[in-house]
Amino acid sequence: MVLLPRNVFAQVQRRAFSASAANAYKVAVLGAAGGIGQPLSLLLKLNQKVTDLALYDLRGAPGVAADVSHVPTNSTVAGYLPDNGGLEKTLTGAEVVLIPAGVPRKPGMTRDDLFNTNASIVRDLAKAAAEFAPKAFILVIANPVNSTVPIVAEVYKSKGVYDPKRLFGVTTLDVLRASRFISEVKGTDPNQEPVTVVGGHSGVTIVPLLSQSNHPEISGETLDALVHRIQFGGDEVVKAKDGAGSATLSMAQAAARFADSLLSSISGTPVTEPTFVDSPLFKDEGIDFFSSQVTLGPSGAEQIHPLGKLNEYEEKLIEAAKVDLKKNIAKGVKFVAENP
Ligand code: NAD
Ligand code: LMR
Repeated sequence: MVLLPRNVFAQVQRRAFSASAANAYKVAVLGAAGGIGQPLSLLLKLNQKVTDLALYDLRGAPGVAADVSHVPTNSTVAGYLPDNGGLEKTLTGAEVVLIPAGVPRKPGMTRDDLFNTNASIVRDLAKAAAEFAPKAFILVIANPVNSTVPIVAEVYKSKGVYDPKRLFGVTTLDVLRASRFISEVKGTDPNQEPVTVVGGHSGVTIVPLLSQSNHPEISGETLDALVHRIQFGGDEVVKAKDGAGSATLSMAQAAARFADSLLSSISGTPVTEPTFVDSPLFKDEGIDFFSSQVTLGPSGAEQIHPLGKLNEYEEKLIEAAKVDLKKNIAKGVKFVAENP
């Protein structure tokens, strides 16, 4: 009798229930009982490519799992807490790990103000993922994304398991906002308004390339207002929630969309969309991570596309983005060096 390692056996079992072996994945959500985690877990339960959903949180994850498990799709759902090896059980065998664990903003705060709390949360979860799911694709949602993604990278490097193609900062919400906001300006269908958003995920590091959209003619005050709204869309939600947190529902949709793109890509249908990755684009300027269009495939970030033709206005936005990004990335790297 051939003995299979536990996670391989679990995968074989899972795939036996799936219509297609290429479409059967264990997906883990760390921070699953939070404002993002709950609707994200629901959306992942609805995804036919997810056959095994593992939900982890410091509190509440078993309840979310029990609730979501009644949705009649053909996947298993399990919820775990830190006791009894919950994090190990969540991560073992996971192909995709989403990390929304961390505190959200209140009015008046920047995403960088979350660093002191969220850096150590993300570092510790990254350590666990490096140990129990070193080959998984890691999708970082927790803010400040410009710093938390480098934190994961540094942890993985220190454990000798870093594969830059498997680490993603989820910037999809900026992309969704850009489509929605441009459609409001133009009175069009947001589903027909693709916008490439590059850079990072905070304030001026968010750079929509509207010259490459369907509406390169937008200019003057309309352009300024639209770019500002895309860059600071998160603030609109933080202000409206008035102390009760930041975007959760739209973010869950964004993360579910990116996870679906990745699952489609690793099962053979490549998708290209913006995401914050370890990128060659500005490495010579000391900026190791940048969001641009990335073609996803079985090994993860397979092709990182250049920014394409920019106009003078966008060149200036990129220059401003690079200044903040460089500092945000360095802050994450320094944190892990000083707090391994
Ligand atoms: P929330 O407070 O509602 O939920 C966070 C959850 O994380 C809580 O359930 C908490 O118990 C859990 N948690 C905290 N520490 C943990 C740990 N060590 N292990 C496991 N779980 C842990 O917050 P939210 O509204 O869901 O936002 C979560 C994060 O996502 C915030 O940092 C927020 O800024 C960020 N965010 C990012 C984007 C983006 O575009 N990338 C968009 C919106 C929000
Ligand atoms: C967003 O863009 O909505 C998130 O990054 C949350 C925030 O703090 O704005």
